[in-house]
Amino acid sequence: MVKAVAVVGGNEGVKGTIYFSQEGVGPTTVTGSISGLKPGLHGFHIHALGDTTNGCVSTGPHFNPAGKEHGGPEDEIRHAGDLGNVTAGNDGTAHFIVVDRQIPLSGPNSIIGRAVVVHADQDDLGKGGHELSKTTGNAGGRIACGIIGLQEHVTFSRY
Ligand code: CU
Ligand code: ZN
Repeated sequence: MVKAVAVVGGNEGVKGTIYFSQEGVGPTTVTGSISGLKPGLHGFHIHALGDTTNGCVSTGPHFNPAGKEHGGPEDEIRHAGDLGNVTAGNDGTAHFIVVDRQIPLSGPNSIIGRAVVVHADQDDLGKGGHELSKTTGNAGGRIACGIIGLQEHVTFSRY
């Protein structure tokens, strides 16, 4: 089991903690909550770089090792980092569980050291017909982000 964590923050009071875990070569489970959001859907992605020197802008584009167009998490054509949307309730908090096979925590396409980003607006999953739909889902500004760091790597040899 590999575990990772990202402490997410932004300059508009948006904050949260996101946990990642992966057993062997199985899917990665992403759980967490983010508060301070406007109610509704917010694009939720893994971006390529774990660089926040210039805020969330410097985390680069969506993590896309296969060189595909933007899409939704259930689509054949998608960036590996396309996790769709999280939904904030009327209290401005989103609680979520995402299970995905394209964001491993080890190997050549590992997301460790990259960033998780929350957007101001809804990700249209590539289907909105906007000029940005096929690259970003037209999800608006990057309102919070955090670097995904290794939390715990449990191997049987430890016991
Ligand atoms: Cu994004
Ligand atoms: Zn994308």
